[in-house]
Amino acid sequence: MDESEAQARLDATRAAWDVRAPGWNERNLKGWDTEETAAWWRDEWLAEVRPYLPTPGANVQLLDAGCGNGQLSVLYAKEGYTVRGCDFSPSMAQYAKENAAHYGLVAPQIEFTCASIDALPYAKGEFDIVNCRCVLDFTPRPGYALRELRHVTRHGGILVLLMMGVASPIKRQFWQRWLEGIDPHAPAGNNIFNQIAPWDVERIMPILGWKPLHQSGQYGGTPGGAINSFTAEQMADQPLLVQQAMATGWLIVAEAVEPQPLES
Ligand SMILES: C[S@@+](CC[C@H](N)C(=O)[O-])C[C@H]1O[C@@H](n2cnc3c(N)ncnc32)[C@H](O)[C@@H]1O
Repeated sequence: MDESEAQARLDATRAAWDVRAPGWNERNLKGWDTEETAAWWRDEWLAEVRPYLPTPGANVQLLDAGCGNGQLSVLYAKEGYTVRGCDFSPSMAQYAKENAAHYGLVAPQIEFTCASIDALPYAKGEFDIVNCRCVLDFTPRPGYALRELRHVTRHGGILVLLMMGVASPIKRQFWQRWLEGIDPHAPAGNNIFNQIAPWDVERIMPILGWKPLHQSGQYGGTPGGAINSFTAEQMADQPLLVQQAMATGWLIVAEAVEPQPLES
């Protein structure tokens, strides 16, 4: 994919997310307000990633890359991290600012900016932790994004990456993407996913300076109401590739290390 094609793809994806932003914000604001959802973030998400993260403190810098409406930025800021959030959609970045302020979180503890994760306005090695949840699947060139995230992470820092399984119900929900250009009724902005798989990410990570430390699948439903036909219990004994294919979201926690040369 050349530069102009990548840029056109990025612009189209940004426009689609800008349109989706109000609905996304509406659905995902509930995160901190209902005990059920708050408990999920606390007992499932944080409980799983916390063992890999440095102890929170004002001197521990966390980037929430592709922060959306800031639901995870707020979660991490409440834990005590200094958080920078970025999203390439101006509407999302604006919601994130407003939501953080609503929860009493302001600069310098938390700040948001509008930027794409493959061209970040931060210094080399600035962050101890990079969180990137459900974003990589939308980037035209995910390898570029993972390289850029590594650039802004200090050596020994941690990436918390959640991507979709190949047969994730999130992707299956958007089946009309295959009608783009064929059926005039196919909704615009439906075709914004790339085709990268967890097993691809596993292989390219070491070459880009990431060492996977932990992987696991999440098999819950989607905010849009699609369900996964499998439970975590059913998937537990399946081969890794099957788990990676069927997961709604596939979590990879990785450490920033020296990039390994690609062996031919
Ligand atoms: C599924 S939402 C996830 C939001 C947030 N990470 C969360 O878990 O709540 C995807 C977000 O990624 C953002 N996004 C997609 N591609 C991006 C890119 N190249 N750079 C920055 N943000 C991006 C979208 O604007 C959207 O807010």
